[in-house]
Formats: sequence, C-alpha cells, structure tokens
Amino acid sequence: MRVLVTGGSGFVGSNIVEVLDHHDAEVLAPGRAELDVTDAVAVNRYVEATRPDAIVHAAIWNDPAGLLTDRRRAWEAYVGATRAVVDAANRAGAHVVLVSTDWVFDGTQGPAPENESPNPVNTYGFLKAASELVVAERAERGTIARIAAVQGIHRAHPSTPRAQDAGFGYLAASVADALAAGRRFKVWDGPGLNRLATPVLATDAAEFIFRALEQAATGTLHCVGGEHVDRVTLARRSAQAFGFDPERIDVVDPDPAIVGTQPVPVDTRLDATATATQLGLELPDLGTTLQRLRLQLQAIQS
Ligand SMILES: NC(=O)c1ccc[n+]([C@@H]2O[C@H](COP(=O)([O-])OP(=O)(O)OC[C@H]3O[C@@H](n4cnc5c(N)ncnc54)[C@H](OP(=O)(O)O)[C@@H]3O)[C@@H](O)[C@H]2O)c1
Repeated sequence: MRVLVTGGSGFVGSNIVEVLDHHDAEVLAPGRAELDVTDAVAVNRYVEATRPDAIVHAAIWNDPAGLLTDRRRAWEAYVGATRAVVDAANRAGAHVVLVSTDWVFDGTQGPAPENESPNPVNTYGFLKAASELVVAERAERGTIARIAAVQGIHRAHPSTPRAQDAGFGYLAASVADALAAGRRFKVWDGPGLNRLATPVLATDAAEFIFRALEQAATGTLHCVGGEHVDRVTLARRSAQAFGFDPERIDVVDPDPAIVGTQPVPVDTRLDATATATQLGLELPDLGTTLQRLRLQLQAIQS
C-alpha cells in the first residue's frame, strides 16, 4: 500500500509515518517545502505523479493566535487544504483520511459517540468541523479519524515540546520529563481548560488509521483509548506509571497567557465503542497507554 502522509514532520504525522513503515507500507511524507497543502495545483500534481492508494491528511497550521489574526490564511490552511487533498484523492481514486479532533464538540456532549453532531466553541474546532464536512460531503472514499488528548513522543524532532496548554497533548511525556530531571510537575486545573478527555497514544491512533486503510473503512471513527480521565489524574497516573512519586505533582491555576481568551470545550470524552467494533480492535485502557509510552520513552533514551 502506498500512502501519502501530509504533516509527516509533525507530532501526530511522524507517529503515523512510524506505524505505516512498521507495517511495510510505502510511505511518502513530503515536507512543507516539497508540498504545500494549501496549493491545490501542487497537491494535485504531486498526487498525479505519485499515485498513492491513500492519503492521510495530518498537516495543520498549528498557531492558535495566528488563527485569530489571519482568518483567511486559517481558512485556507484548514478547509482549503482539506478540499485540495480530497479533490486530488478523488481524481486518483485514493482513500483519504482526515486526522481530526475531539475539539469539534462543545464540551457538554461527552462521552460523544461517532455520530454525535459537532458543535465547536472556538476557531480551531470550527475549522476542524468545517474540514470534516469537506470530507463527509466531497470525498468518494473518505474517513474522518478523530483523535484526542494525544500522548507520545515526537519522532521527527529531537525533543518533544514540553509546554502545557489548554488541551491534554503531550501531558504524560511532560510529566516524565520533569520528574526524571528531579523537578516537580505543575499540572493546570481550573476554568478555561479542557478538563476531561479520552487519551490515546499517538502510535495507537496511527494503528487505528492503518486498520481503517486496510479495511477500507469510511465514515467517522474515534481513534482513542477506552478510558476517560481528567488532567490531574492523568498527571498522577503518568508519574506512577513511570516509577515516580505522584506526590511530586502539584495542581496549579493555568497560565492565562498560554491559555488565551477563546472558549475551550471542558469535557471532550469520546465514546469509541462503534469504532472498535467496526475495526475489530480492543481499546487500550489508560494503564496500557502509559506503559506503552514508558517503553517508547525508554527506547529513545537508550
Ligand atoms: N496534538 C494533539 O494532541 C492533537 C489532538 C487532536 C487532534 N490533533 C490533530 O492532529 C493533526 C496533527 O497535529 P500535530 O499536533 O501533529 O501538529 P504539528 O506537530 O504542529 O504538525 C503539523 C504538521 O503540519 C505541517 N504543515 C503545516 N502547514 C503546512 C502546509 N501548508 N503544507 C504542508 N505541511 C504543513 C507541519 O510542517 P512544518 O513542520 O514544516 O511546519 C507539520 O509537519 C491535526 O490535524 C490536529 O488537528 C492533534
């Protein structure tokens, strides 16, 4: 299977590349300089030249402040890019998978099943929901793969970004990093944060996506684990799983400069039961997720 991955140098995309490689897929992962996904002509030309069987679209303009100050660029980077990828996939007869998010929900809908209607509360969620619609309405063979609270290691950069934000991403690795360096970890809790979610290890989410490609599964999938958790519990459970004292986790107010002013969905738990049944997969619980992450962290350190 030949698969084009956009955003393959990013956190999620680099894990998708890793897993597809592991399954002996032929992976094309052009960097942004080689293929700008907002350039529809270039996307079409690239897909025509390489004829992938599938495209996994994980590229994203990851700049929350920029999304507000340059709305036109934001629309093109999300909705326009998704349209370009879907149109190119349709012309090539390729299966297209959009990597999406639990932030398409409003934070009161959890645990949201796959067929729950999106109701985003911020610009990022709106742009992702609009991108989902492009796939749902326009793709001849399209899959929306929602991922959430993604844990793991960044495989394209030497070190994982450590910053905590209003979401859950990277939290477990950040805990491991701080505690291993002898520091305490200050987990944020309070209003204005995503406080409940359904984490997934980036490589497990990629396994879901690989399985969807293998089985030609279309529609909306929830590529997450089988256990919901709040951010303080996730930080403490991470400490325990990595062999540290959970008492070294402090709970503090969030940094308003990083959280920003946009609303954040509070409870974005996802129900992935239908996805697990459809793909014939078992949803990993949190303990399994954290043990797998521990092994991945050990592997990159050795
Ligand atoms: N991280 C999470 O916790 C999380 C949670 C839910 C959903 N998601 C979804 O996962 C996907 C990936 O997110 P991420 O966290 O992996 O983001 P990321 O680490 O910031 O990676 C973004 C990737 O997109 C590439 N890119 C940006 N603009 C591009 C353009 N115009 N043309 C081609 N490539 C471009 C970047 O390339 P450069 O390196 O050259 O900039 C990078 O490879 C997104 O769809 C996001 O909505 C992530």
